[in-house]
Amino acid sequence: MSLTKLPSNQQDLGSADQKQDLSSFVMGQVQQLAIAPLQQALLRWYGEQGRDLPWRRTRNPYHIWISEIMLQQTQVKTVIPYYERWLAQFPTVEDLAIAPQQQVLKVWQGLGYYARARNLHRAAHVIVQEHGGQFPSEFEIVLALPGIGRTTAGGILSAAFDLPTPILDGNVKRVLARLIALPVPPNRALELLWQVSTAVLDVQHPRDFNQALMDLGATICTPKNPACLLCPWRECCQAYQLNMQNELPTSETRAPLPRKFIGVAVIWDDQDNILIDRRRQEGLLGGLWEFPGGKVEPGETIEECIKREIQEELGIDIEVGDRLMTVNHTYSHFHVTLNVHHCRHLSGEPQPIECDEVKWVTLDELHEYPFPKANVQIIDALLSYRDGK
Ligand code: ADE
Repeated sequence: MSLTKLPSNQQDLGSADQKQDLSSFVMGQVQQLAIAPLQQALLRWYGEQGRDLPWRRTRNPYHIWISEIMLQQTQVKTVIPYYERWLAQFPTVEDLAIAPQQQVLKVWQGLGYYARARNLHRAAHVIVQEHGGQFPSEFEIVLALPGIGRTTAGGILSAAFDLPTPILDGNVKRVLARLIALPVPPNRALELLWQVSTAVLDVQHPRDFNQALMDLGATICTPKNPACLLCPWRECCQAYQLNMQNELPTSETRAPLPRKFIGVAVIWDDQDNILIDRRRQEGLLGGLWEFPGGKVEPGETIEECIKREIQEELGIDIEVGDRLMTVNHTYSHFHVTLNVHHCRHLSGEPQPIECDEVKWVTLDELHEYPFPKANVQIIDALLSYRDGK
């Protein structure tokens, strides 16, 4: 079955027959690959063009683990300073395990997807308590640690211990999907792509091979305008041979992200303190501090929303004043618009009704607390406002 002959309804992959057809197609493509020359070409290219990255200069599994978690959803150039700061603050897994969660979240602040930091912290406790402080080298044990999935486990074990564990992150999915001209979106053929990643892996040089595959995806086999003329796999790449590198991998049709409108209160008391709260542990931004507020209900004005939310969340009465700013931000599954107002505390002692903790702090103390990125913009605006900028 060639790509051009693939039936248009193949993309649904609804029936067992369609799955079998796709599986046969992928296995046929893999059989046609000249694996040894492909491995040699990639390793030679990596020797000449591979990136010199801080976590490639070490075999310390703790360091490599931290880098792999940071790199899960974040680009290399953003990760490097965070990686270096992290290791300066928490040089060993024991240092991480004994640190308070607030310190861990503060070092992570700005990287997003904060569950990664909470899971690193939890996993550090497991490594210290159950593995004597040694990062495990067995695949199933690594996979059982919080925050570590199949590709992260493969990335860590190959990089730290040179074990032949395949990887399949976003970049690698694209490289392999092009290599075999996969006719469906990669996420609909994950098990097959794992088999491809396993088939091409050079078991004599798994560390360098996996690092090279990641570099190929990041620097040559890019989502748009891949640099095929510089690619060591151009001769065997089915997408290139079919001149379909710009059409592959095929993409999922995605519904647009929903937008949430949030009313946010910067609540002042008579001594110019500001009220902040710490979010519950669950959820996207669990454990981080924020300016209190909540979702605008249908038919409600922003001012009404803020007054209601603050009464429900903290049990206090406030007066909603002038608008400070509007902040737009995009998370993985939705956009938010934060409508931020200055507010004045009128009565009642703040209670942590829907959060873990509430605190009055001065404007200068705000930077000591870990806040989500969208809230950091509010802090910056408050500081500029005070400093008359
Ligand atoms: N993305 C995930 N792991 C990586 C690594 N080790 N080097 C570069 N990018 C990566």
